[in-house]
Amino acid sequence: MLTMSQAESLGFKGEQLYEIGIAAVLHDSGKLFIPDEILNKPGRLTDNERSIIETHTVKGAQYILGLKNISKLAVLGALEHHIKYDGTGYPNISKKWKPNIVSQMIAIADVFDAMRSRRVYKDAKPVSLIVKILTQEKGTSFNPLLVDNFLKLLNEK
Ligand SMILES: [Fe+2]
Repeated sequence: MLTMSQAESLGFKGEQLYEIGIAAVLHDSGKLFIPDEILNKPGRLTDNERSIIETHTVKGAQYILGLKNISKLAVLGALEHHIKYDGTGYPNISKKWKPNIVSQMIAIADVFDAMRSRRVYKDAKPVSLIVKILTQEKGTSFNPLLVDNFLKLLNEK
């Protein structure tokens, strides 16, 4: 919903909006292939555990590629949602690679959702703190225009 409301506010509609919704739902499907004890581990991850978790992007993209009747947008969403606006993050693709705008929207929705959720290993953050973090990371982690749009949507709620 957080991705679709961004997309809708930017003018996507109909079939495209539907495909964006599918891409958003499937973006973390690679986590199906990551052991639960690593995904839900309380406390700090080792370097090895972190690199195993990071494979969920490529594994998700490969998994979705094998599904029938799924738009390639969902493959991109899974592959690219942890690539930051400045090209850092993972997977480590060429610096010239520009993530799809939908992957960039998923990245914002994903971080917001992760920070708003209580997990076994952490508490939820207040919205005011998340707004501060998103604002600080405009132009580095996130597309600045998409952050502005997302914050505008948050204020409307
Ligand atoms: Fe992810």
